[in-house]
Amino acid sequence: MNITFEESTKTFHLQTGDTSYIMQLYKDGYLAHLYWGRRIRKSISSELLALKTRGSFSANPDNEDDSFSLDTLPQEFPAYGNTDFRVPAYEVQLENGTTITDLKFDSYNILKGKPALKGLPSTYVENDDEALTLEIVMFDSLIDLKVVLSYSIFDNHDAIIRSVRFINEGHTNLKLLRALSMSVDFNKGEYDFMHLSGSWARERHVERIALSSGNKSIESRRGASGHQQNPFIALLSKDATEEHGEVYGFSLVYSGNFLAQAEIDQYNTTRVSMGINPFGFSWLLEPGQTFQAPEVVMVYSCEGIGKMSRTYHKLYRTRLCRGKFRDTVRPVLVNNWEATYFDFNADKIEDIARVGKELGIELFVLDDGWFGKRDNDKTSLGDWVVDKNKLPKGLRDLASRVNKLDLQFGLWFEPEMVSPDSDLYRLHPDWCLHVPNRTRSQARTQLVLDLSRTDVCDYIIEAVSSVLKSAPISYVKWDMNRNMTEIGSSLLPAERQLETAHRYMLGLYSVMESITTSFPNVLFESCSGGGGRYDPGILFYMPQTWTSDDTDAVERLKIQYGTSLVYPTSTMGCHVSDIPNHQVGRNTSLKMRGDVAMSGNFGYELDLTKFSAEDKEQVKLQISLYKELRELIQHGDMYRLLSPFIGNETAWMFVSGDKTEAFISYFKVLAAVNGPVEKLNLRGLDPDMDYNVEGKDGFYGGDELMYSGLNIPELNGDYCSVTWRIKSV
Ligand code: DGJ
Repeated sequence: MNITFEESTKTFHLQTGDTSYIMQLYKDGYLAHLYWGRRIRKSISSELLALKTRGSFSANPDNEDDSFSLDTLPQEFPAYGNTDFRVPAYEVQLENGTTITDLKFDSYNILKGKPALKGLPSTYVENDDEALTLEIVMFDSLIDLKVVLSYSIFDNHDAIIRSVRFINEGHTNLKLLRALSMSVDFNKGEYDFMHLSGSWARERHVERIALSSGNKSIESRRGASGHQQNPFIALLSKDATEEHGEVYGFSLVYSGNFLAQAEIDQYNTTRVSMGINPFGFSWLLEPGQTFQAPEVVMVYSCEGIGKMSRTYHKLYRTRLCRGKFRDTVRPVLVNNWEATYFDFNADKIEDIARVGKELGIELFVLDDGWFGKRDNDKTSLGDWVVDKNKLPKGLRDLASRVNKLDLQFGLWFEPEMVSPDSDLYRLHPDWCLHVPNRTRSQARTQLVLDLSRTDVCDYIIEAVSSVLKSAPISYVKWDMNRNMTEIGSSLLPAERQLETAHRYMLGLYSVMESITTSFPNVLFESCSGGGGRYDPGILFYMPQTWTSDDTDAVERLKIQYGTSLVYPTSTMGCHVSDIPNHQVGRNTSLKMRGDVAMSGNFGYELDLTKFSAEDKEQVKLQISLYKELRELIQHGDMYRLLSPFIGNETAWMFVSGDKTEAFISYFKVLAAVNGPVEKLNLRGLDPDMDYNVEGKDGFYGGDELMYSGLNIPELNGDYCSVTWRIKSV
């Protein structure tokens, strides 16, 4: 890794292991983008930036030079209004109501390491030798606005991490109307746009479309990253596949409203930008105040989508996730939600836990319904006091009973919410997000607490902490089951009301930081009706997420495949559930359900006491196999082989870092007749190593397994799966 500034050409050059990112100071201080792609040894700036004279509909900020327009200059952090007509990265309103700003280069600084972002989640270093950071200071001298563009690169990860800081050094108020985290201009327009979209129970399906002139954007206006769009996009060369072609990934480390967009302009160039959604947002910056925008992790791959994903996986697993559980394998759990829903008592829980223990389970998780008067989803959120009707001897007693079985005990919370029917709401009706004299729209009979308020945040920290202190709880499932409406805060002045949604995120992050650091031995899993807030922001605090409420094995193929585009396996909660499946009514074999769930943090979510002896035997084998493989699955390199979005088959594999071991999973959804003898071409192996395929005689070369392939056995019936373990000899 290296960052240089060449005075003669005024170019900044960032080099990671495989990539280069080059910028140039142009004219009297514009920051131009020159290049991002495969690593080049040095920058020849005259070839990298070439501008053409355009017609009068691209205006010229320098009246003496009609070849120069910001409308055609590839830029790093563009504004609107002084000749660039494309999508701006930021917009600032002055006290006089105007929004024209003119940022020019002021200075730069190259630092060792990567500074943390105040109040926000971010990728990090463990020592300063791991990364370099370039800070470029831009300044608008008319209003004394300082904007610091930050670029970090890691020694061991091919990523460029960008963020922005706005500082009001003047004497008048400024209002940020738009404060995106990054913008980058590509000098052509022939790209595909890839993103992850869906809905509740159908999260992160892969979509790929060809860009054409105009703007393609994805966004959230829900006050959470959301099930519907994930804060991730990629630009792909037309020929890009899993293994080949150019891919530019953009992943926002943020959990609230976001915007990600690609605009192809009249000259067939592409501008990509990403950050907090300007919709419903503004931020008053008083003299002396700073606004920090979240970071975007940008990954370039010239070896297809697979390599981009593996870069994200390693970076997020090792330098975004934190804490004791980052590097440790995750326990196999059983969760009672789909087993009992709200209808349980201590004996029932102990029964499920006992059977779980017999089968090899390590952690029991008590889901929703243990507090207040929560016999259904209409009441008690906010009252984090055990329901003595269900658990007369309390949580400590139940947790101890589970512990006596030699299982850890985990507990569900939904701390950000309040039920109108709760003591908390009766006491503090102004503690929820609301707008005076307007309906407080409910969803699942609940309202959203106003986490932009410190008193509300303090309450949550106190309420959750006191439960965690009251019993031996070693795992928390932190749920969040609705999106924001009537977004307003009773404590904010009128001119700051549009700050509420972002202030909520800052409050949430501070609550999560406080609780997770106070309880370092508790494994936290986030959840939002499944994967409604599966984003890098939350992963900074909680190293795993409940992937989806849809636990059907067939549905999960797409959900887990899509999730794996960005997020490491160690972050994905994946459980075997009952049949007929509670979400889609489908019957799939226990084998397939097990094989799908084993491609993540494995567990069960059903009533194990109802299993036949034969099923129990199978579950025992699944769990013991998973325990042998989990280091490889959770921490190995993932290679996707067949996409569920393309056909009837799905396959992926996990390869150990030294390539001596791999685990391959293959799934066939519907039976097919009279096809060819099918082969699966593996990836990621060492072509020069020989491997033993468990259950087969002889040895196979890594080259043979990858180039010729592994025979897939004849599979009869729908919903089939096969797995293979291979080891080098
Ligand atoms: C939504 C979650 O995704 C489920 O797993 C479960 O915890 C329910 N909430 C409980 O209300």
